Amino acid sequence: MKRHCLLPDISQPGRIGCSLPDLDVPSGDLPSEELLRQELELPEVSEVDLVRYFTALSKLNYGVDTGFYPLGSCTMKYSPKSHEDIARLPGFTALHPCQPEESVQGALELMYRLQEYLTEVTGMDATSLAPVAGAHGELAGLLMVKAYHEGRGDKARTKILLTDSSHGTNPASVAMCRLETGVVASDANGDLDLKSLESMMTEEVAALTLTMPSTLGLFDPRIDEIAQLVHERGGLLGGDGANFNALLGQAKFGELGFDYVQLNLHKTFSTPHGGGGPGSGPVCVRESMVDFLPTPLVIEDNGRYKFSSPPKTIGKIATFYGNFNVMVKAYAYTRSLGPKELKRISEDAVLNANYLREKLKPYYHLPYDRTCMHEVVFSGKKQKAKGVATLDIAKRLLDYGLHPPTVYFPLIVSEALMTEPTETESKETLDNYIAAMKEIATDAEENPEILHTAPRNTPVRRLDDARASRQLDVRWEIKSQKK
Ligand SMILES: Cc1ncc(COP(=O)(O)O)c(C=O)c1O
Repeated sequence: MKRHCLLPDISQPGRIGCSLPDLDVPSGDLPSEELLRQELELPEVSEVDLVRYFTALSKLNYGVDTGFYPLGSCTMKYSPKSHEDIARLPGFTALHPCQPEESVQGALELMYRLQEYLTEVTGMDATSLAPVAGAHGELAGLLMVKAYHEGRGDKARTKILLTDSSHGTNPASVAMCRLETGVVASDANGDLDLKSLESMMTEEVAALTLTMPSTLGLFDPRIDEIAQLVHERGGLLGGDGANFNALLGQAKFGELGFDYVQLNLHKTFSTPHGGGGPGSGPVCVRESMVDFLPTPLVIEDNGRYKFSSPPKTIGKIATFYGNFNVMVKAYAYTRSLGPKELKRISEDAVLNANYLREKLKPYYHLPYDRTCMHEVVFSGKKQKAKGVATLDIAKRLLDYGLHPPTVYFPLIVSEALMTEPTETESKETLDNYIAAMKEIATDAEENPEILHTAPRNTPVRRLDDARASRQLDVRWEIKSQKK
């Protein structure tokens, strides 16, 4: 029996599975003959076939709505559906970006208030909502760093220091700005190695980008010393704030000594992360960098809201105003939770990660054995010694109906299993994951073959991951219908 029906295979001439709604616009003439295709080879299927086809397809997918998704560094938390409903209100979706300011006062007020909230929770002085992704926020931050130093007549600062646990977008953003990268090592505790920083913090350095907490899931306790050193040497301290889920309501980037930071609203603030967007990566800055913020900002003037452009702005970095629907969700999230509940996000995210850490520590190597923040990074080193790779562990988790953690990142941890449970998971869900991971650790000792040949219960077995991403083919091909 065929498990999944593919549309081309079930297409039969004359079958109809769609009904078109009545025309709600005036009908017009068709374009001229030469612009029309003679044949449009669409599949012809009945309604029931079509419903089954899409239902079968939907079952092949895995998402936060399906089950646990502890993909580290991605904060795959559950985002309340009510915020989707709010973002879908016609008062928001039917707006046109070219409408006059006077006619979109509500939208502008929402943007203004969100700017204020994000400024407040990061302890900064101003925020621009323009960037449309975390990496885009990083880019905006670095363009501001360049403009800041050039504005002071210091053109020698062309290097950005990163850490060896940095997210891949960090060096990519530096390259996009045509700046050089210097990589500061982490020490044995997983913190920034201060001696290396000291020796690398020369007059060429424009900024240090620090992910806080780091992709190792660790809060660097010497952040004061780091900020002081960077500032004493004339540099700026930039934050990759994509892991803000760990800090929300507990610590503010401004108070930790950062000059600017980007947030990932699509991780922390109720827009699902993944699937190619849309996202939003606002940049929040200290007073010294306010003039360089990307345009537009929304300002309030005698109870009216309007767009404004900072005097030395790096300019426009996205079409119109950024991803407005993500802003609506972030605003709804912030307002519906309020200060007390926003604080609980980070408390519970950190608690859940430490629960996993404690429970799984006896079974998996823990390279940095200390209290973690929102995620915990294990290593599959013990299992590797028995011939079981971290990839085998990840594939075996699929057989339990669980999404694996991020594997082989951060790069400085061999056989890394970077696990981020997030605050939205219950103890039962965590216990279920722990039980699966324990069984896998036992199988690695006693029955490694089952891991080498995993997954066994999925629609497809082990794939050539590299080929799948390099030669991605998601198009429906009419050719197969004609076979
Ligand atoms: C630590 C860190 N920095 C930067 C990014 C980049 O964000 P984006 O994927 O929105 O560009 C991510 C992505 O999740 C991240 O985890």
